[in-house]
Amino acid sequence: MISPVSNDDDSGSYSICYLRLRRWVIMIVSTTIYLQEAIIAIENRRVFIKQRPDGMPVIDDFGVEDVSIDNIPDGHIVAKVDTLSMDAWIRTTLNDAGMHTTGDIGTTIRAFGVGQVVESKSDKLAVGDWVYGILSAQTHALVPDAAVTKVEPEEGIEPSAFVGPLGITTGLTAWVGLVKVGEVKEGETVVVSGAAGAVGSVVVQLAKARGAYVVGIAGGAEKCSYLTEELGADAAVDYKNSDVAEQLAKAAPNGVDVFFDNVGGELLDTVLDNLAPAGARVAICGAISQYQHLDDVRGPKLYLRLAERNAMMKGFVVSHYDTEFPSAVSEISELMRTGKLSLPEHVVEGIDGFPDALFMLFNGGHHGNLVVKP
Ligand SMILES: NC(=O)c1ccc[n+]([C@@H]2O[C@H](COP(=O)([O-])OP(=O)(O)OC[C@H]3O[C@@H](n4cnc5c(N)ncnc54)[C@H](OP(=O)(O)O)[C@@H]3O)[C@@H](O)[C@H]2O)c1
Repeated sequence: MISPVSNDDDSGSYSICYLRLRRWVIMIVSTTIYLQEAIIAIENRRVFIKQRPDGMPVIDDFGVEDVSIDNIPDGHIVAKVDTLSMDAWIRTTLNDAGMHTTGDIGTTIRAFGVGQVVESKSDKLAVGDWVYGILSAQTHALVPDAAVTKVEPEEGIEPSAFVGPLGITTGLTAWVGLVKVGEVKEGETVVVSGAAGAVGSVVVQLAKARGAYVVGIAGGAEKCSYLTEELGADAAVDYKNSDVAEQLAKAAPNGVDVFFDNVGGELLDTVLDNLAPAGARVAICGAISQYQHLDDVRGPKLYLRLAERNAMMKGFVVSHYDTEFPSAVSEISELMRTGKLSLPEHVVEGIDGFPDALFMLFNGGHHGNLVVKP
């Protein structure tokens, strides 16, 4: 029997028993910790910034590696990434001074995504919940619960719709630019550049649904027939193979009331030159033609057309309109349910394809919503 009350004869065997007991306790505790860690260790494959691109990114600018997530702090979740949205702003985060934000060398490339919670130390999100937010270029995202929004897929609205027609940087951007900045009205002529892309495709369909006459500008005959045959645009202008000014004057003989610009550069001037005689609105959504050289952006030469024609040009960041999101979601969801709005997905499979998908965004190799399924 081990007794804490010892005499000289017993003290040696008591110390040995005590040391053995202590060793057992340490072994049990460390085995438990090891097992707990083994249970939560999740293999994550991620794409990170290896070096800053000089102009158009090349494959050597990106690194890919496997890392283990073996500690989930309180208030955090791990989401298995289902779909990542390939957005033009991602390119700007690779620069030293990005447009909205800059990623440090070695960090996972930022991207909006939708995913499903597989581990949770949050009292707000449970395993199985679908979430939307900056999940970034990886297979599994460890994020604070406050950094993501819970979303509820339903019949006819797949999880990937939250990075598509209902995504902040896609459908909601289209809605805000067209409705709140462009203030589109029934019967007006709307022109959209980058029209066959993710934002542009939604703008075309929203403008049609609101009774506008819609002209899309895109590169190539295939994209132009996608605009008129599949999206219902009234006319399409192929900026790669035709005289845009001439085609635009034919397609919009009374001038342009709303220009939703995704491209910038020379194309912006061409449309400014064809604005309606009075009261046109130009919504500057983006300028994808300028993102490879943000330190030397080409501004509009013909901005005086704004003064001549009593027109307005306004840039916007979608996040500044978050109070409008419920109205946008409600209108877009209804159009989706009634078959009046859809957005084809161009899917790149596997996280290793993330850099190629980014190149495609600038080479115009897709139409609709370009996404990566990790
Ligand atoms: N303001 C905001 O809050 C906000 C939010 C989200 C996105 N955006 C902007 O919205 C725009 C569209 O983004 P997205 O994600 O929907 O991309 P996207 O339109 O799906 O893809 C980009 C398309 O732009 C066209 N393009 C690329 N380089 C071009 C160039 N040099 N000249 C003319 N066209 C070019 C390509 O189509 P073609 O084959 O037709 O050339 C390409 O498919 C971007 O400018 C982005 O920055 C703004």
